[in-house]
Amino acid sequence: MAGSDAPVDGVTVPLTPPVEDWTTDYDILDAEYITDPYPIWADLRGDCPVAQTDRWGGSFLPTRYEDVVELARLVPVFSSHDPLVVRPPDDQQVIGSSGYHTVNAPPISADPPVRTWSRRLILPAFAPRAVEAHETYTRALAGRLVDGFIADGRVDGAQQYAQQIPPRVIAHLLGVDEGRADEFTDWVRGVLEIGLSNPAVRVASRDKILNFFAGEVADRRANPKDDLISELMEAEIDGEPVSDQHIIGTCNLMLVAGIDTTWSSIGSALWHLATHEDDRRRLAADLTLLPTAVEELLRAYSRVTMARVVSEETEFKGCPTHVGDKVLLNFPAANRDPDIFENPDVVDIDRQRNRHVAFGVGIHRRAGSNLARMEMIVALEVFLSRIPEFTLEDPSAVTWAGGQVRGPRRLPLAF
Ligand code: HEM
Repeated sequence: MAGSDAPVDGVTVPLTPPVEDWTTDYDILDAEYITDPYPIWADLRGDCPVAQTDRWGGSFLPTRYEDVVELARLVPVFSSHDPLVVRPPDDQQVIGSSGYHTVNAPPISADPPVRTWSRRLILPAFAPRAVEAHETYTRALAGRLVDGFIADGRVDGAQQYAQQIPPRVIAHLLGVDEGRADEFTDWVRGVLEIGLSNPAVRVASRDKILNFFAGEVADRRANPKDDLISELMEAEIDGEPVSDQHIIGTCNLMLVAGIDTTWSSIGSALWHLATHEDDRRRLAADLTLLPTAVEELLRAYSRVTMARVVSEETEFKGCPTHVGDKVLLNFPAANRDPDIFENPDVVDIDRQRNRHVAFGVGIHRRAGSNLARMEMIVALEVFLSRIPEFTLEDPSAVTWAGGQVRGPRRLPLAF
Protein backbone atom coordinates (compact mmCIF):
# COMPACT_ATOMS: atom_id res chain seq x y z
CA MET A 1 0.00 0.00 0.00
CA ALA A 2 1.38 3.44 -0.91
CA GLY A 3 1.47 6.00 1.89
CA SER A 4 2.14 4.72 5.40
CA ASP A 5 0.39 4.76 8.73
CA ALA A 6 3.71 4.83 10.57
CA PRO A 7 4.65 8.47 11.30
CA VAL A 8 7.85 9.62 9.54
CA ASP A 9 9.43 12.66 11.24
CA GLY A 10 6.13 13.16 13.05
CA VAL A 11 4.15 13.11 9.77
CA THR A 12 1.50 10.42 9.30
CA VAL A 13 0.33 10.35 5.69
CA PRO A 14 -3.04 8.60 5.57
CA LEU A 15 -3.06 5.27 3.76
CA THR A 16 -3.83 5.77 0.08
CA PRO A 17 -4.19 3.05 -2.53
CA PRO A 18 -1.07 2.52 -4.66
CA VAL A 19 -0.91 4.51 -7.89
CA GLU A 20 -1.70 2.18 -10.79
CA ASP A 21 -1.56 4.78 -13.55
CA TRP A 22 0.29 8.08 -13.02
CA THR A 23 -1.42 9.67 -16.06
CA THR A 24 -4.93 9.46 -14.58
CA ASP A 25 -4.35 8.90 -10.87
CA TYR A 26 -1.12 10.54 -9.74
CA ASP A 27 -0.51 11.12 -6.02
CA ILE A 28 1.77 14.02 -5.01
CA LEU A 29 1.95 12.68 -1.43
CA ASP A 30 2.93 9.19 -2.51
CA ALA A 31 6.25 8.17 -0.91
CA GLU A 32 7.78 7.17 -4.27
CA TYR A 33 6.77 10.51 -5.81
CA ILE A 34 8.22 12.45 -2.87
CA THR A 35 11.50 10.51 -2.78
CA ASP A 36 12.19 10.33 -6.53
CA PRO A 37 9.72 12.16 -8.80
CA TYR A 38 12.10 12.51 -11.77
CA PRO A 39 11.41 9.21 -13.62
CA ILE A 40 7.68 9.74 -13.07
CA TRP A 41 7.86 13.20 -14.70
CA ALA A 42 9.98 11.86 -17.56
CA ASP A 43 7.34 9.21 -18.31
CA LEU A 44 4.47 11.68 -18.02
CA ARG A 45 6.14 14.16 -20.37
CA GLY A 46 6.10 11.39 -23.00
CA ASP A 47 2.78 9.69 -22.22
CA CYS A 48 0.53 12.46 -20.93
CA PRO A 49 2.03 15.95 -20.56
CA VAL A 50 -0.98 17.15 -18.52
CA ALA A 51 -1.85 14.33 -16.13
CA GLN A 52 -4.94 14.28 -13.94
CA THR A 53 -6.04 12.86 -10.60
CA ASP A 54 -9.04 12.81 -8.26
CA ARG A 55 -6.78 12.41 -5.21
CA TRP A 56 -6.44 15.19 -2.60
CA GLY A 57 -9.42 17.05 -4.03
CA GLY A 58 -8.39 16.51 -7.66
CA SER A 59 -5.97 18.43 -9.90
CA PHE A 60 -4.05 18.56 -13.20
CA LEU A 61 -0.25 18.11 -13.38
CA PRO A 62 1.66 19.51 -16.34
CA THR A 63 5.27 18.34 -16.68
CA ARG A 64 6.54 20.26 -19.74
CA TYR A 65 8.36 23.58 -19.29
CA GLU A 66 6.41 25.41 -22.00
CA ASP A 67 3.07 24.28 -20.55
CA VAL A 68 3.95 25.29 -16.97
CA VAL A 69 5.18 28.70 -18.16
CA GLU A 70 2.07 29.24 -20.29
CA LEU A 71 -0.26 28.26 -17.44
CA ALA A 72 1.48 30.58 -14.97
CA ARG A 73 0.84 33.45 -17.36
CA LEU A 74 -2.87 32.71 -17.95
CA VAL A 75 -4.16 35.07 -15.25
CA PRO A 76 -6.89 35.32 -14.08
CA VAL A 77 -8.39 32.34 -16.00
CA PHE A 78 -6.11 30.27 -13.75
CA SER A 79 -6.62 32.21 -10.55
CA SER A 80 -4.21 32.55 -7.61
CA HIS A 81 -6.77 32.71 -4.82
CA ASP A 82 -6.04 29.22 -3.46
CA PRO A 83 -2.36 28.30 -4.08
CA LEU A 84 -2.33 25.15 -1.94
CA VAL A 85 -1.68 21.95 -3.96
CA VAL A 86 -4.38 19.96 -2.16
CA ARG A 87 -7.98 20.68 -1.36
CA PRO A 88 -9.42 19.12 1.78
CA PRO A 89 -12.55 17.05 1.13
CA ASP A 90 -15.79 18.97 1.87
CA ASP A 91 -16.40 16.94 5.03
CA GLN A 92 -12.99 17.97 6.34
CA GLN A 93 -13.31 21.70 5.80
CA VAL A 94 -12.06 23.26 9.05
CA ILE A 95 -12.81 26.86 10.02
CA GLY A 96 -10.03 28.53 12.00
CA SER A 97 -10.65 29.73 15.53
CA SER A 98 -8.70 32.96 15.08
CA GLY A 99 -10.78 35.91 13.94
CA TYR A 100 -8.60 35.99 10.82
CA HIS A 101 -9.55 32.80 9.00
CA THR A 102 -10.75 34.83 6.01
CA VAL A 103 -7.29 36.43 5.69
CA ASN A 104 -5.35 34.97 2.79
CA ALA A 105 -1.67 35.46 1.87
CA PRO A 106 -1.40 38.49 -0.46
CA PRO A 107 0.16 38.95 -2.94
CA ILE A 108 0.60 35.21 -3.65
CA SER A 109 -3.10 34.48 -3.16
CA ALA A 110 -4.30 37.53 -5.09
CA ASP A 111 -5.01 38.23 -8.73
CA PRO A 112 -4.67 41.76 -10.11
CA PRO A 113 -5.39 44.45 -9.08
CA VAL A 114 -4.80 43.49 -5.41
CA ARG A 115 -1.73 41.46 -6.40
CA THR A 116 -0.18 44.47 -8.09
CA TRP A 117 -0.20 46.91 -5.18
CA SER A 118 0.36 44.28 -2.52
CA ARG A 119 3.47 43.02 -4.34
CA ARG A 120 4.75 46.59 -4.72
CA LEU A 121 4.56 46.95 -0.93
CA ILE A 122 6.97 44.10 -0.24
CA LEU A 123 9.47 44.21 -3.10
CA PRO A 124 11.72 46.88 -1.52
CA ALA A 125 12.45 44.47 1.36
CA PHE A 126 14.00 42.04 -1.16
CA ALA A 127 16.00 44.51 -3.25
CA PRO A 128 19.72 43.60 -3.45
CA ARG A 129 20.73 46.43 -1.05
CA ALA A 130 18.09 45.41 1.49
CA VAL A 131 19.16 41.76 1.31
CA GLU A 132 22.82 42.75 1.76
CA ALA A 133 21.84 44.20 5.14
CA HIS A 134 20.99 40.68 6.34
CA GLU A 135 24.16 38.99 5.09
CA THR A 136 26.36 39.68 8.11
CA TYR A 137 23.63 38.37 10.42
CA THR A 138 23.21 35.24 8.27
CA ARG A 139 26.96 34.56 8.10
CA ALA A 140 27.38 34.91 11.87
CA LEU A 141 24.37 32.64 12.46
CA ALA A 142 25.75 29.92 10.14
CA GLY A 143 29.15 30.16 11.84
CA ARG A 144 27.59 29.76 15.30
CA LEU A 145 25.65 26.71 14.11
CA VAL A 146 28.84 25.05 12.80
CA ASP A 147 30.63 25.91 16.08
CA GLY A 148 27.90 23.93 17.79
CA PHE A 149 28.52 20.59 16.04
CA ILE A 150 31.97 20.67 14.38
CA ALA A 151 33.61 18.81 17.26
CA ASP A 152 31.07 15.95 16.96
CA GLY A 153 32.25 14.76 13.52
CA ARG A 154 28.62 14.25 12.53
CA VAL A 155 25.49 16.39 12.15
CA ASP A 156 21.98 16.22 10.77
CA GLY A 157 22.50 18.70 7.94
CA ALA A 158 18.76 19.26 7.55
CA GLN A 159 17.62 19.54 11.18
CA GLN A 160 20.71 21.07 12.84
CA TYR A 161 21.86 23.37 10.03
CA ALA A 162 19.61 24.05 7.00
CA GLN A 163 16.42 24.25 9.09
CA GLN A 164 17.94 26.65 11.62
CA ILE A 165 18.87 29.47 9.24
CA PRO A 166 15.76 30.71 7.29
CA PRO A 167 13.34 31.03 10.27
CA ARG A 168 15.86 33.31 12.04
CA VAL A 169 16.64 35.34 8.91
CA ILE A 170 12.91 35.91 8.25
CA ALA A 171 12.37 36.82 11.92
CA HIS A 172 15.25 39.28 11.59
CA LEU A 173 13.69 40.78 8.45
CA LEU A 174 10.21 41.06 9.95
CA GLY A 175 11.51 42.38 13.28
CA VAL A 176 10.02 39.56 15.37
CA ASP A 177 11.60 37.46 18.13
CA GLU A 178 14.27 35.16 16.60
CA GLY A 179 14.09 33.11 19.81
CA ARG A 180 10.75 31.73 18.58
CA ALA A 181 12.34 30.26 15.42
CA ASP A 182 11.48 26.67 16.35
CA GLU A 183 7.82 27.59 16.84
CA PHE A 184 7.80 29.31 13.44
CA THR A 185 9.24 26.14 11.92
CA ASP A 186 6.54 24.00 13.52
CA TRP A 187 3.81 26.33 12.32
CA VAL A 188 5.15 26.36 8.77
CA ARG A 189 5.46 22.58 8.71
CA GLY A 190 1.90 22.43 10.00
CA VAL A 191 0.65 24.54 7.09
CA LEU A 192 2.78 23.29 4.19
CA GLU A 193 3.74 19.73 5.09
CA ILE A 194 1.79 17.89 7.81
CA GLY A 195 -1.29 19.95 7.04
CA LEU A 196 -1.48 18.83 3.41
CA SER A 197 -2.94 15.53 4.51
CA ASN A 198 -4.35 16.78 7.80
CA PRO A 199 -6.62 19.86 7.40
CA ALA A 200 -7.12 20.27 11.15
CA VAL A 201 -3.38 20.61 11.71
CA ARG A 202 -3.13 23.04 8.78
CA VAL A 203 -5.84 25.33 10.07
CA ALA A 204 -4.59 25.19 13.66
CA SER A 205 -1.05 26.05 12.52
CA ARG A 206 -2.34 28.85 10.34
CA ASP A 207 -4.33 30.23 13.25
CA LYS A 208 -1.16 30.34 15.35
CA ILE A 209 0.63 32.31 12.63
CA LEU A 210 -2.27 34.74 12.14
CA ASN A 211 -2.76 35.29 15.88
CA PHE A 212 0.97 35.82 16.31
CA PHE A 213 1.08 38.53 13.64
CA ALA A 214 -2.14 40.12 14.91
CA GLY A 215 -0.26 40.55 18.18
CA GLU A 216 2.80 41.99 16.43
CA VAL A 217 0.67 44.46 14.46
CA ALA A 218 -1.09 45.61 17.64
CA ASP A 219 2.30 46.01 19.31
CA ARG A 220 3.68 48.11 16.43
CA ARG A 221 0.64 50.37 16.60
CA ALA A 222 1.81 51.30 20.12
CA ASN A 223 5.57 50.92 19.54
CA PRO A 224 6.59 51.39 15.91
CA LYS A 225 9.98 49.81 15.06
CA ASP A 226 12.48 49.93 12.20
CA ASP A 227 11.21 46.75 10.58
CA LEU A 228 9.07 45.47 7.70
CA ILE A 229 5.88 45.18 9.76
CA SER A 230 6.08 48.87 10.76
CA GLU A 231 6.83 49.84 7.16
CA LEU A 232 3.73 48.02 5.95
CA MET A 233 1.69 49.80 8.61
CA GLU A 234 2.92 53.18 7.36
CA ALA A 235 2.13 52.36 3.74
CA GLU A 236 -0.86 53.84 1.94
CA ILE A 237 -2.77 52.70 -1.12
CA ASP A 238 -4.68 55.46 -2.93
CA GLY A 239 -4.32 57.61 0.19
CA GLU A 240 -5.73 54.92 2.47
CA PRO A 241 -3.70 53.00 5.06
CA VAL A 242 -3.33 49.28 4.39
CA SER A 243 -5.70 47.25 6.58
CA ASP A 244 -4.40 45.22 9.52
CA GLN A 245 -6.01 42.14 7.96
CA HIS A 246 -3.93 42.65 4.83
CA ILE A 247 -0.71 43.20 6.78
CA ILE A 248 -1.34 40.10 8.89
CA GLY A 249 -1.94 38.11 5.67
CA THR A 250 1.28 39.38 4.08
CA CYS A 251 3.33 38.60 7.18
CA ASN A 252 1.77 35.14 7.20
CA LEU A 253 3.00 34.75 3.60
CA MET A 254 6.52 35.93 4.46
CA LEU A 255 6.84 33.26 7.13
CA VAL A 256 5.32 30.46 5.09
CA ALA A 257 7.04 31.39 1.80
CA GLY A 258 10.40 32.29 3.28
CA ILE A 259 11.23 29.37 5.57
CA ASP A 260 10.50 25.86 4.23
CA THR A 261 11.51 26.84 0.69
CA THR A 262 14.97 28.01 1.64
CA TRP A 263 15.80 25.39 4.23
CA SER A 264 14.76 22.70 1.74
CA SER A 265 17.08 24.27 -0.85
CA ILE A 266 20.05 24.43 1.54
CA GLY A 267 19.33 20.85 2.64
CA SER A 268 19.10 19.55 -0.94
CA ALA A 269 22.38 21.29 -1.80
CA LEU A 270 24.09 19.59 1.18
CA TRP A 271 22.56 16.26 0.12
CA HIS A 272 23.99 16.76 -3.39
CA LEU A 273 27.45 17.69 -2.13
CA ALA A 274 27.49 14.78 0.33
CA THR A 275 26.78 12.38 -2.55
CA HIS A 276 28.88 14.08 -5.31
CA GLU A 277 32.53 14.22 -4.20
CA ASP A 278 33.89 16.01 -7.30
CA ASP A 279 31.40 18.89 -7.00
CA ARG A 280 31.98 19.15 -3.25
CA ARG A 281 35.77 19.27 -3.62
CA ARG A 282 35.67 21.79 -6.48
CA LEU A 283 33.40 24.13 -4.53
CA ALA A 284 35.33 23.72 -1.28
CA ALA A 285 38.51 24.58 -3.17
CA ASP A 286 36.94 27.58 -4.96
CA LEU A 287 33.96 29.21 -3.27
CA THR A 288 33.66 31.75 -6.10
CA LEU A 289 32.03 28.95 -8.14
CA LEU A 290 29.08 28.94 -5.72
CA PRO A 291 26.76 31.49 -7.38
CA THR A 292 26.62 29.46 -10.66
CA ALA A 293 26.46 26.18 -8.74
CA VAL A 294 23.57 27.46 -6.62
CA GLU A 295 21.55 28.31 -9.77
CA GLU A 296 22.06 24.75 -10.98
CA LEU A 297 21.12 23.27 -7.61
CA LEU A 298 17.99 25.46 -7.63
CA ARG A 299 17.16 24.07 -11.09
CA ALA A 300 17.96 20.42 -10.49
CA TYR A 301 16.45 20.14 -7.00
CA SER A 302 13.69 22.68 -7.55
CA ARG A 303 11.33 22.60 -4.60
CA VAL A 304 8.12 24.59 -4.98
CA THR A 305 4.92 23.46 -6.68
CA MET A 306 2.00 25.88 -6.58
CA ALA A 307 -1.65 25.66 -7.59
CA ARG A 308 -4.07 27.77 -9.58
CA VAL A 309 -7.86 27.44 -9.63
CA VAL A 310 -9.81 27.56 -12.89
CA SER A 311 -12.07 30.63 -12.82
CA GLU A 312 -13.89 30.07 -16.14
CA GLU A 313 -14.64 27.04 -18.28
CA THR A 314 -11.61 26.56 -20.51
CA GLU A 315 -9.50 23.97 -22.24
CA PHE A 316 -5.74 23.59 -21.78
CA LYS A 317 -3.69 21.49 -24.16
CA GLY A 318 -6.76 19.46 -25.09
CA CYS A 319 -7.81 19.00 -21.43
CA PRO A 320 -11.22 20.48 -20.60
CA THR A 321 -11.00 22.21 -17.21
CA HIS A 322 -13.97 23.43 -15.22
CA VAL A 323 -14.54 26.27 -12.78
CA GLY A 324 -13.01 25.30 -9.44
CA ASP A 325 -10.58 22.73 -10.84
CA LYS A 326 -7.02 22.90 -9.50
CA VAL A 327 -4.05 23.00 -11.86
CA LEU A 328 -0.60 22.48 -10.34
CA LEU A 329 2.26 24.73 -11.43
CA ASN A 330 4.90 22.02 -11.47
CA PHE A 331 8.00 24.24 -11.62
CA PRO A 332 10.26 21.34 -10.48
CA ALA A 333 9.27 19.14 -13.45
CA ALA A 334 9.63 22.08 -15.84
CA ASN A 335 13.24 22.44 -14.65
CA ARG A 336 14.02 18.89 -15.76
CA ASP A 337 12.50 19.19 -19.27
CA PRO A 338 14.94 17.88 -21.91
CA ASP A 339 13.37 20.20 -24.50
CA ILE A 340 14.83 23.13 -22.53
CA PHE A 341 17.81 21.80 -20.58
CA GLU A 342 20.63 19.72 -22.04
CA ASN A 343 21.06 16.52 -19.95
CA PRO A 344 18.44 17.75 -17.48
CA ASP A 345 19.08 14.95 -15.00
CA VAL A 346 22.79 15.72 -14.84
CA VAL A 347 23.69 18.31 -12.19
CA ASP A 348 26.32 20.47 -13.91
CA ILE A 349 27.61 23.10 -11.45
CA ASP A 350 29.13 25.04 -14.38
CA ARG A 351 25.86 25.19 -16.34
CA GLN A 352 25.69 28.62 -17.99
CA ARG A 353 22.45 28.51 -20.01
CA ASN A 354 20.11 28.05 -17.08
CA ARG A 355 16.69 29.69 -17.47
CA HIS A 356 15.23 27.70 -14.63
CA VAL A 357 11.84 28.61 -13.17
CA ALA A 358 12.50 27.54 -9.57
CA PHE A 359 11.26 30.96 -8.36
CA GLY A 360 8.18 30.87 -10.55
CA VAL A 361 7.08 32.65 -13.70
CA GLY A 362 4.59 35.41 -14.38
CA ILE A 363 2.90 37.71 -11.90
CA HIS A 364 4.07 36.04 -8.65
CA ARG A 365 7.65 35.26 -9.67
CA ARG A 366 10.85 35.63 -7.69
CA ALA A 367 9.83 38.01 -4.89
CA GLY A 368 12.18 36.40 -2.34
CA SER A 369 14.82 35.12 -4.77
CA ASN A 370 17.58 37.57 -3.77
CA LEU A 371 17.17 36.69 -0.12
CA ALA A 372 17.01 32.95 -0.84
CA ARG A 373 20.14 33.07 -2.98
CA MET A 374 22.03 35.00 -0.32
CA GLU A 375 21.03 32.50 2.38
CA MET A 376 21.99 29.51 0.19
CA ILE A 377 25.37 30.95 -0.84
CA VAL A 378 26.29 32.05 2.69
CA ALA A 379 25.14 28.77 4.28
CA LEU A 380 27.18 26.71 1.78
CA GLU A 381 30.22 29.01 1.96
CA VAL A 382 30.37 28.72 5.74
CA PHE A 383 29.74 24.96 5.78
CA LEU A 384 32.26 24.16 2.98
CA SER A 385 34.98 26.43 4.36
CA ARG A 386 34.73 24.79 7.82
CA ILE A 387 33.82 21.22 6.74
CA PRO A 388 35.15 20.69 3.19
CA GLU A 389 34.90 16.88 3.41
CA PHE A 390 31.59 15.22 4.37
CA THR A 391 29.45 12.28 3.28
CA LEU A 392 26.07 10.72 4.10
CA GLU A 393 26.42 8.86 7.40
CA ASP A 394 23.62 6.43 6.43
CA PRO A 395 21.88 6.92 3.03
CA SER A 396 18.87 4.87 4.17
CA ALA A 397 18.27 7.32 7.03
CA VAL A 398 17.66 10.29 4.69
CA THR A 399 13.99 11.30 4.59
CA TRP A 400 12.17 13.73 2.28
CA ALA A 401 9.03 15.82 2.59
CA GLY A 402 7.02 16.88 -0.42
CA GLY A 403 3.73 17.98 -1.88
CA GLN A 404 4.07 21.80 -1.94
CA VAL A 405 7.73 22.10 -0.99
CA ARG A 406 10.11 19.18 -1.49
CA GLY A 407 13.22 18.82 0.63
CA PRO A 408 15.23 16.57 2.98
CA ARG A 409 13.89 16.35 6.53
CA ARG A 410 16.62 14.08 7.89
CA LEU A 411 20.16 14.27 6.49
CA PRO A 412 22.73 12.55 8.71
CA LEU A 413 26.21 13.66 7.63
CA ALA A 414 29.62 12.44 8.80
CA PHE A 415 32.89 14.39 8.52
C1 HEM B 1 14.87 28.72 -2.62
C2 HEM B 1 13.92 29.36 -2.01
C3 HEM B 1 12.62 29.78 -2.67
C4 HEM B 1 11.94 29.23 -3.71
C5 HEM B 1 12.31 28.00 -4.51
C6 HEM B 1 10.75 30.04 -3.93
C7 HEM B 1 9.81 29.81 -4.92
C8 HEM B 1 8.73 30.65 -5.17
C9 HEM B 1 7.79 30.46 -6.26
C10 HEM B 1 7.80 29.31 -7.24
C11 HEM B 1 6.91 31.50 -6.22
C12 HEM B 1 5.76 31.80 -7.22
C13 HEM B 1 4.54 31.25 -6.76
C14 HEM B 1 3.41 31.35 -7.76
O1 HEM B 1 3.58 31.65 -8.92
O2 HEM B 1 2.30 31.05 -7.27
C15 HEM B 1 7.27 32.33 -5.09
C16 HEM B 1 6.60 33.47 -4.71
C17 HEM B 1 6.90 34.19 -3.56
N1 HEM B 1 7.97 33.97 -2.70
FE1 HEM B 1 9.36 32.56 -2.88
N2 HEM B 1 10.73 31.08 -3.01
C18 HEM B 1 11.86 30.95 -2.23
C19 HEM B 1 12.26 31.77 -1.19
C20 HEM B 1 11.51 32.84 -0.73
C21 HEM B 1 11.90 33.65 0.38
C22 HEM B 1 13.16 33.51 1.22
C23 HEM B 1 10.92 34.57 0.57
C24 HEM B 1 10.89 35.63 1.65
C25 HEM B 1 9.87 35.89 2.38
C26 HEM B 1 9.91 34.33 -0.45
C27 HEM B 1 8.77 35.07 -0.63
C28 HEM B 1 7.89 34.91 -1.70
C29 HEM B 1 6.73 35.77 -1.92
C30 HEM B 1 6.30 36.93 -1.04
C31 HEM B 1 6.12 35.32 -3.09
C32 HEM B 1 4.84 35.88 -3.74
C33 HEM B 1 5.16 37.00 -4.66
C34 HEM B 1 3.92 37.52 -5.40
O3 HEM B 1 2.85 36.99 -5.20
O4 HEM B 1 4.07 38.46 -6.16
N3 HEM B 1 10.31 33.27 -1.24
N4 HEM B 1 8.39 31.79 -4.46
